[in-house]
Amino acid sequence: MTARPRRLRRTPGLRRMVQENHLTVNDMIYPLFVMEGEGQKIEISSMPNCFRYSLDLLLQEVAEAWSLGIKAIALFPVVPESKKDATGTESYNPDGLVQRTVKAIKKAVPEMLVITDIALDPFSIYGHDGIVDDQGKILNDPTVEILVKQAISQAEAGTDIVAPSDMMDGRIGAIRQGLDAAGYFDVGILAYSAKYASAYYGPFRDALDSAPKFGDKKTYQMDAANSREALKEVALDIAEGADMVMVKPALAYLDIICQVKSATHLPVVAYNVSGEYAMIKAAAQQGWIDEKSVILETLLSMKRAGADLILTYFAKQVAEIFQES
Ligand code: PBG
Repeated sequence: MTARPRRLRRTPGLRRMVQENHLTVNDMIYPLFVMEGEGQKIEISSMPNCFRYSLDLLLQEVAEAWSLGIKAIALFPVVPESKKDATGTESYNPDGLVQRTVKAIKKAVPEMLVITDIALDPFSIYGHDGIVDDQGKILNDPTVEILVKQAISQAEAGTDIVAPSDMMDGRIGAIRQGLDAAGYFDVGILAYSAKYASAYYGPFRDALDSAPKFGDKKTYQMDAANSREALKEVALDIAEGADMVMVKPALAYLDIICQVKSATHLPVVAYNVSGEYAMIKAAAQQGWIDEKSVILETLLSMKRAGADLILTYFAKQVAEIFQES
């Protein structure tokens, strides 16, 4: 026997030298939920240790994340029912919750990269990502017009990157044109390019009270059975001006991450979604798995599949684990 692969596994030092993929705080984007009010932080029941924060407490959380080395956050608003309507007008209110939060973060922790979500669902009485007609159909082009307004309004507030998660056709190009026409050339676009109609989003919809009031999202989000379609979506978003592309969810779609990685030179982002978070937390709470090890192994699998960045509710916990060791 001449080949003995175990030779390179003999000591921790050797194993570290030949380690192919690494997980660092620089890879992680930390999603945060902001709500109205003061002095409040409410745990999301299906996402243990994940909270909705009022703005004052959110700023503390952002500062803590920054001090742990996290460079980017993704912001999601909990919009009061009274501010929701059929066309999501609150989404481009210059004094809306997202806009106020972005300004406050930029003042408190100026270097933290702020990524804001573009979609109508948190602002819609129907819980859909687009405008709904009287037959329950989601209207593409009128929705895109509103998404452009939403993007410009977030850019005015000072966001660094807008992240359209709505899956309407043509929105990346329209948003790029709208931002440029308004002078926001430097605001980037992280496109949710391959976003699947997934049951893994359940806990997130609990967090925002944004579950669809009727039907499902299958006329705009992708079918879990498809992979070539993901490459089509990615190609379109790149042609329309995306700066980064995302695959979502991540864990059940590692093959898609891998294929997208070989199809583009842009940074690829994996969204480790709420249901993936909830599964690990639930099993760990039962004592059935070793939480830390499973978190690190799971996130590393996304890097190995080809993700450059991971959007994950575990971001801060992982940063703390790194700091301990
Ligand atoms: C909505 C949006 C969703 C998520 C991010 N943006 C839910 C959905 O599409 O219904 C889900 C994220 C998660 O589950 O962690 N535009």
